[in-house]
Amino acid sequence: MRKKIVAGNWKMHKTLPETEVLIKELRELVDTENKVSVIIAPTFVNLTSAVNLAKGSDITVAAQNMHFEDAGAYTGEISADMLQVIEVNTVILGHSERRAYFCETDDILKLKAIQAYKKGMTNIFCVGEKLAERKENKHFEIVEKQLINALFTLPAEAFEKIVIAYEPVWAIGTGETASPEQAQEMHQFIRKVVEAQYGKSVADKLRILYGGSVKPGNAKEIFSKPDVDGGLIGGAALQAKDFNAIIEAGKS
Ligand code: PGA
Repeated sequence: MRKKIVAGNWKMHKTLPETEVLIKELRELVDTENKVSVIIAPTFVNLTSAVNLAKGSDITVAAQNMHFEDAGAYTGEISADMLQVIEVNTVILGHSERRAYFCETDDILKLKAIQAYKKGMTNIFCVGEKLAERKENKHFEIVEKQLINALFTLPAEAFEKIVIAYEPVWAIGTGETASPEQAQEMHQFIRKVVEAQYGKSVADKLRILYGGSVKPGNAKEIFSKPDVDGGLIGGAALQAKDFNAIIEAGKS
């Protein structure tokens, strides 16, 4: 059985005092009973505090992005070493907002995925089609290309630390969710694509998260699908009660 993951992507939300409040609230509420892995991804400047505040809890702290080089003249960027020194060993890569607003291409993401692998970091790698692509029935093709282009030069062992997040762009922050059937269909497809390249045992172990307007009211149904191994949560991760309700939905 694959253990479910519920990950909160805080995006550009929460100042340091707000981060402290939210993590304290989460610590009081969350009891995973070891059934769900819980991850939160606050913004870079608050990661050190978040790591300290989450110490001794079941909450793992992740970054929302990182650069592919070890160090260098890259103004405004953050390296893997900078993250690992503050005990952040998990990173979200390829979020659709990074792709859309910061011009992250499959080629760049390939380098980032290689860097995460080299550094032994857990890579929550996001894929997903835009609305127009779904309407043109190109969603499978798009997602397959995103996987192949960015991840499939990695060796099989890299997949021990890769989690895929399927996030249809049309469902992110829009209140519109993929139906549980649409999520299952794509997750099953992703697993097949990974199986074709890396074999069944890698594919069977791979956690595939769904992201896009997951809320306390729809989480349980989405998570009940056989190939959905949890969620990457945006808006609903910013309220302790809602995020905890989604974690609870991941337990069964
Ligand atoms: P949302 O965001 O839950 O607010 O739709 C999901 C995400 O972007 O990861």
